[in-house]
Amino acid sequence: MKLFNSVEDLINAIECQGWCCRTSYLPEADSRRLKEDCENACHRGEFHRAGTGRGMGLEVRDQIRKDQILWLRPEDATNGQTAYLDKLEALRLALNRSLYLGLNDFEGHFAIYPEDAFYKPHLDRHTGTSERVITVILYLNPDWQPGDGGELKLWTTTGEKTGAFEIIEPRLGTLVCFLAGDFWHEVLPAHKTRMSITGWFRQVPFASHAG
Ligand code: OGA
Ligand code: MN
Repeated sequence: MKLFNSVEDLINAIECQGWCCRTSYLPEADSRRLKEDCENACHRGEFHRAGTGRGMGLEVRDQIRKDQILWLRPEDATNGQTAYLDKLEALRLALNRSLYLGLNDFEGHFAIYPEDAFYKPHLDRHTGTSERVITVILYLNPDWQPGDGGELKLWTTTGEKTGAFEIIEPRLGTLVCFLAGDFWHEVLPAHKTRMSITGWFRQVPFASHAG
């Protein structure tokens, strides 16, 4: 069955190289619905500037990242968001079964990079934490063209911010996953508005695990 193979294939890539990228992860109509949700929420003024760090250390720093985000809330998700979250839930369970990662949570947000926005090289774990295990990004840009910018640059040597890298085009329906604490990455400056859903499968200590 195709779906099973694609999940298996994705898990194999994570196991062998720690990252993977798939075009057309969702049917086009489903990705478009998510893109529309993203735009509609933005028009309603629901986005806010993303910060760096967390808790008391959370700050908005223009030199580091210039995107705007809106956290997904499963309790008021649209049908399209619920379908995507359900698909990620199946992926989470499959990752746990195959790789024993003990993932027990997902958190994710829409992100909009306005023209000229970027996100400088970073790892996705906050200093001193290990909760975020796998980063999962779905891109929502139907008419993306070379020259529109906003590509993801992912260095493919664990822990290195030099050497081999991949350039991932943020096209509608493309999914990229990687080990959150191991792979340096950056978002190159967008020359056109760029939309995505970024999330993390997490391993949260039982006491602070919300659901
Ligand atoms: C992030 C991030 C990359 C992308 O939000 O932490 O690195 O391609 N996003 O959107
Ligand atoms: Mn990141």
